[in-house]
Amino acid sequence: MNPRAKTATLARSDESVDWTALRDDFPILRETVNGHPLVYLDNAASSQKPHQVIDAVRRYYEHDNANVHRGIHELSNRATEAYEGARQRVADYLNAGSREEIIFTRGTTEGLNLVANTWALDKLRQGDTILLTEMEHHSNLVPWQILANRIGAKLDFIEVTGDDGQLDLQWLDEQLARARLLSLTHISNTMGTVNPVAEICARARAAGVVTVVDAAQSAGHALVDVQGIDCDFLTFSGHKTCGPTGIGVLYGRRELLEAMPPYQGGGEMILKVGYRDSTFNVAPHKFEAGTPNVAGAVGLHAALDYLDTIGRKAIFEHDQRLAKRACEHLAEIDGIRIFGPAEGRSGLVSFVLPDAHALDLATMADQKGVALRAGHHCNQPLLAKLGVAATTRASFYFYNTEAEVDRFIEVLHGVRKLFV
Ligand code: ALA
Repeated sequence: MNPRAKTATLARSDESVDWTALRDDFPILRETVNGHPLVYLDNAASSQKPHQVIDAVRRYYEHDNANVHRGIHELSNRATEAYEGARQRVADYLNAGSREEIIFTRGTTEGLNLVANTWALDKLRQGDTILLTEMEHHSNLVPWQILANRIGAKLDFIEVTGDDGQLDLQWLDEQLARARLLSLTHISNTMGTVNPVAEICARARAAGVVTVVDAAQSAGHALVDVQGIDCDFLTFSGHKTCGPTGIGVLYGRRELLEAMPPYQGGGEMILKVGYRDSTFNVAPHKFEAGTPNVAGAVGLHAALDYLDTIGRKAIFEHDQRLAKRACEHLAEIDGIRIFGPAEGRSGLVSFVLPDAHALDLATMADQKGVALRAGHHCNQPLLAKLGVAATTRASFYFYNTEAEVDRFIEVLHGVRKLFV
C-alpha cells in the first residue's frame, strides 16, 4: 500500500465506510445458529476472519509452503520471504523502529510469558516490585505471579475505582518509585476502559521503570503506535485482529531485546551449537525457537492489510458507536449494573441484570443465535473486587451493525420475561 493512501485510510472517519458491505467478506457471518441468523457479539474473545485472510493462508499452503531460513530451494525462499514480509508488515502496523523489534509468538499470553521469563527473570531480584493494574486479565497477572514466587519479587496494583472501570492514577508516581516493571492493559476486556498508556508509560520512563503494554483488545480496534506510546514491550494476538489463531506478536525495544537472554532453546535461535555450549542468534530470531507458524504470519499480514484498508480510526469509532447504542438501551432496564466508563469506552459492554444470571442469559441468547460471553472473562480478581461472580459481555467489531445491537436488546428482553 502506498504510504499516503495508508495515512488517508488510517485517519478516515466512521461515516465514510460502507460497514454493511464489508460483511460480505466474512463467510461465517452467513451462518445460522439454532435456526437464527448469527449475531456474533463475542469479538473480545476472538474475531471472525475475512476471506482475504482465509485465502492468503490457503494460497500459502497451496503454493509456497516449506520451512524458513534453512533451505536453499525455491519454496523455502518463498516461505522465508512471506514470513519476513509479515514481520515487516507488523513493524509498519505498530510503527516500530525496525522489523528486528518484532517477535512472532503464539499470542498475547506467550508474549507476556516471554517478557516474564527473559527480561524480568534476568533483571529482577528478590524484593523488587512488579506493578500491574487491578483490571488485568489472567494472561497479564499469572505469569507475573509465577515469576514473583520464583524470585521473591512483590506485586503491586494500580487500583480500579469501581464500576466505572477507571484506574486510580493519583498514587502512580509513588507506586512507580517503588517498581522496576509496569505491565498494563491498553483496553480492558471486561470494562472497555481505554487506558492512557502513553501518559502512564511516560511517567514510568521518567521513574526508570520498564513498561509492557497488553494490546490484546486494542491492536485490532484502534491505532497502536509503539513509538507514540513509547513503551518498552507491547504484545497482541492475531486471532483478535481478524487473523488466524496461534500467531501473535511481541514488540520489544531493540536495545532491550539485544541484551536479553533467549526464551526457549532449539533450532532457529542459535548461531553455533556444540555438545556442551551454544551461541545464540540475534533478535528477533533468538526468541523464536523451532519452526515458526509461517501460515499464521501470512494470515496476520493479510489481516493487518485488511484492517488498514478500512482504517483503524474508523473501526474504533464504529465499535464505540455500537457500544454506546447498546449501553443506552441497557440503561433503560431497572436495576441493571453496567460496568465501564460512561464516556470514551471501547466497543464492549459488560453488565449484570437483577433478575437473570449471566450464564443463563448467554445460554438463552445463544438459542436465538446471539453469541455473548458470560463468566469472569479471565478476570476473576476484578470481578471479586466488584462483588460479582459473572457478567454478561457483548463485544462489537466493525462487521456488527446497529440492527444487530437492536436484535441483541430484543433477545435480552425476551429472555428476561422468562425470569420475572
Ligand atoms: N481475554 C479473552 C476475553 O476477554 C479471552 O474473552
